[in-house]
Amino acid sequence: MSTETEVTGGVSGGPTHVVPTGAALGATVIGVDLKDLEEVAFARIMQAWRDHLVLLFRDQTLSDHELIAFSRRLGDLDWAPIQETGRRFVDGLPEIYIVSNVKVNGEPIGSLGDGEAVWHTDMSYLDLPPKASMLYSLEIPSSGGNTSFSSMYAIYDALPGKLKDRIAGLKIKHDGTYNSGGYVRQGVTPTDDPRTSPGAVHPLVCTHPDTRKRMLYLGRRRNAYIAGLDLADSEALLNELWSYAVLPQFAWEHVWRVGDLVLWDNRCTMHRRDAFDPKQRRIMHRTQVKGDARPV
Ligand code: OGA
Ligand code: MN
Repeated sequence: MSTETEVTGGVSGGPTHVVPTGAALGATVIGVDLKDLEEVAFARIMQAWRDHLVLLFRDQTLSDHELIAFSRRLGDLDWAPIQETGRRFVDGLPEIYIVSNVKVNGEPIGSLGDGEAVWHTDMSYLDLPPKASMLYSLEIPSSGGNTSFSSMYAIYDALPGKLKDRIAGLKIKHDGTYNSGGYVRQGVTPTDDPRTSPGAVHPLVCTHPDTRKRMLYLGRRRNAYIAGLDLADSEALLNELWSYAVLPQFAWEHVWRVGDLVLWDNRCTMHRRDAFDPKQRRIMHRTQVKGDARPV
């Protein structure tokens, strides 16, 4: 394929390749074992990550310690948020967040259940949202539970000029009440008034600190609020922006296999997950790399 980029320094006996998905974002990195990655190959992968926003590595065999070790190469890790049950998981490994519908003795082992997870950027309700997230698949259903990613650069670029002018300089409140599965976060008293709900206020149009490209920073739809507007005007403007944000041409849909690791730039992408059959099992382990700058 003419768009393939060679990444030298792979460890699997030959050169590794970066193969773009052909969608607005995303690329597969072929021939890499993330347990054992030389510095040169890692640097090239980081360049591919800036270029493609989301990278897929197939056929990985990572223990939690190895997942954490690879994740740390991108920076300090966040501790996983407390799960929906009020617990942290994986004893001794607070960096690992479990996304799963599996129950043991009636208790979910992870978060997000088996329903849809709506479009969102991870933890953008914090002043310093994580810079990167990665999700590693351990068990997947035979169908459903696909994860789609969208490019906030592509969404911004496609907005009509008049709308870009209208939103220049506006700020948006990112709600911290509900997670993407609709569950109330630990320690939060639920409210549906976006003006008073907990959260962080960020510019609606941000510039990526590395690529310097502009993007539309929406976070998630529920309880979002455009600072300073009447609630009805804020809702109308958000609905208009989201009518662009959800268009399929800005997205890439990933169909999981066991052993996939997907790494996304959480500063310039959103993601969502399809529902799946509750009778089937899905187990993913996630890590997050701490953000080092407020979105600006
Ligand atoms: C996440 C998330 C979706 C999925 O881990 O942040 O949104 O596909 N996961 O499990
Ligand atoms: Mn998420």
